[in-house]
Amino acid sequence: MCGIVGYIGENSASPVLIDGLKKLEYRGYDSAGIAVFGGEGVQVKKTKGRIADLEQKLVIEGTPEGSVGIGHTRWATHGAPDDLNAHPHRGGNGRITLVHNGIIENYIELKIMLEQKGYKFVSQTDTEVLAHLFDFFYNGDSLEAMSNVMKTVRGSYAAAVLIDDRPDEIIAARKDSPLIVGLGKGENFLASDIPAVLKYTRECYLLDDNQIALLTRESVKLYNINKQEIHKDIYHVTWDVEAAEKGGFDHFMKKEIAQQPGTVRDTLSPRIKNGSVVIDELSLSDEEIKNIGTIHIVACGSAWHVGTAAKYIIEHLAGIPCEVDLASEFRYRNPIVRPSDICIVISQSGETADTLAALREAKGKGAKIVSIVNVVASTIARESDDVIYTLAGPEIAVATTKAFSAQLNVVYLLAIKFAKARGLISKEEEEKYCREMLKLPEIIEGVLKMDPYLKELAKKYVNSENVFFIGRGLDYAISLEGSLKLKEISYIHSEAYAAGELKHGTISLIEEGTPVFAVATQPDLLEKTLGNIKEVKARGAKVIALVGENHTDADEFADDIIRVPEVSDFLMPSLTVVPLQIFAYYMAVGRGCDVDKPRNLAKSVTVE
Ligand code: G6P
Repeated sequence: MCGIVGYIGENSASPVLIDGLKKLEYRGYDSAGIAVFGGEGVQVKKTKGRIADLEQKLVIEGTPEGSVGIGHTRWATHGAPDDLNAHPHRGGNGRITLVHNGIIENYIELKIMLEQKGYKFVSQTDTEVLAHLFDFFYNGDSLEAMSNVMKTVRGSYAAAVLIDDRPDEIIAARKDSPLIVGLGKGENFLASDIPAVLKYTRECYLLDDNQIALLTRESVKLYNINKQEIHKDIYHVTWDVEAAEKGGFDHFMKKEIAQQPGTVRDTLSPRIKNGSVVIDELSLSDEEIKNIGTIHIVACGSAWHVGTAAKYIIEHLAGIPCEVDLASEFRYRNPIVRPSDICIVISQSGETADTLAALREAKGKGAKIVSIVNVVASTIARESDDVIYTLAGPEIAVATTKAFSAQLNVVYLLAIKFAKARGLISKEEEEKYCREMLKLPEIIEGVLKMDPYLKELAKKYVNSENVFFIGRGLDYAISLEGSLKLKEISYIHSEAYAAGELKHGTISLIEEGTPVFAVATQPDLLEKTLGNIKEVKARGAKVIALVGENHTDADEFADDIIRVPEVSDFLMPSLTVVPLQIFAYYMAVGRGCDVDKPRNLAKSVTVE
């Protein structure tokens, strides 16, 4: 959600900025812009639409020349996604040029104050307040001005600033929005995320909240909000550029779906040793695990679906009561959290604003925080007591696939670990589950081979207006994910229902030909779901049954069948989710949608 880049060096800044912005496209945006220091001061070029539109504009109007600049992709919050509201914004008659990611909560009061002082606003953004405010505080000392701005605003920000009378410097700061500094030789970089700088350097500073970075060509100095210089360890990026490229696939989403066997293997294998689950990152002793009161699981979007599955799995295997909350609800409902509770926080990006706030809420109430995070050293990772990284590598497509699978597998590991510590499964059972989990990558490999069949299936349903998903228990959790995948990338209206709940209203939406995916893999619930399948079938639905390969009960009522191999019940989500991802992918492709960057969506949602 919004992307920031910055460059200061000897090379032409514009291409570096544009290239960096392209690497951040996955974050979601609806306008883009750059500002570059040239012979005649700072030149700004910005436009609504895609980076391709910005490039077009540069061809027509000329590319700003100069070797210092900042760039931005904006995901609109305050004001429409148009040219005027696009970043960079100017402050103080153009003396300040600024890009910003986040939300300034007290911008209205600041705007009134600044207007009274004679500042003129031209956009509807909260960001313009930051630009004028910086100008207001600037009297030749950029660090002083940044520190004062940070002390005055409330809200979240990553911001980068060019100042007219300081052509050899970029100053930047962050709070609750990611920002990294890439370290080069005779050049330095700024970005919201590592892929934007990886082409040039693997050495980075990962800024923490309330930290300031002052970049020149030769140096990067870091300060706290009180202008005291601080020193940070350099973070060395171990993955390479290819990991953030499409590698021959038409879309990142397709590549990431295909990567799932490897992702699952990487996540599981270091944590299964001699038939035992060993989670070195987990500092809870067996005694502490025995004494856990409640597990609070908080997350957003797909990660919340993993949380929904986790509740079923952990309660079933380890007998610990779990509460699953949407992070955005948890943070404001004054949840009852006791010191004996733990909070499992699930997040691919590790930056989701609501999830982070929920983490802080639980932590403030004394719960230990165990997070399942993909992005190393992200804010959620850094604020957790224990972090279990999903070793999925960079996930670029907005719609998550491989990170989802990796998160599920961490949940399996935790459930088994908890169950063992509480004496609810034997050593033999643990060994059996471990053996089975280690086979999952190969089995998922097999499920991926259904691709041509799912492609054809998507052709059959590509013109549907409404698609429903039903399932019970763990199948319900996967129905939620299947439905979200479909609607977010194909823009087809879709809803997922606990199969037993459908008749309490939603069944009135089923008409002749409405596709209904029935996920029915959990043996103890199969009969019940079968009953629900019959109910929708009787009302004209086209039923697509997603079942274990040994189950034929649904055949008679299904118009189409997707069969996946059978594994232990609690591991089935790893197999059922894959065909639903592939189906959604082909539906979106078939409808000509922008699969990797669906409209209005952002990969990393850093505002609440
Ligand atoms: C966005 C993404 C989803 C993701 C959700 C939570 O909405 O598009 O794919 O599930 O945020 O993100 P997180 O990074 O916390 O997992």
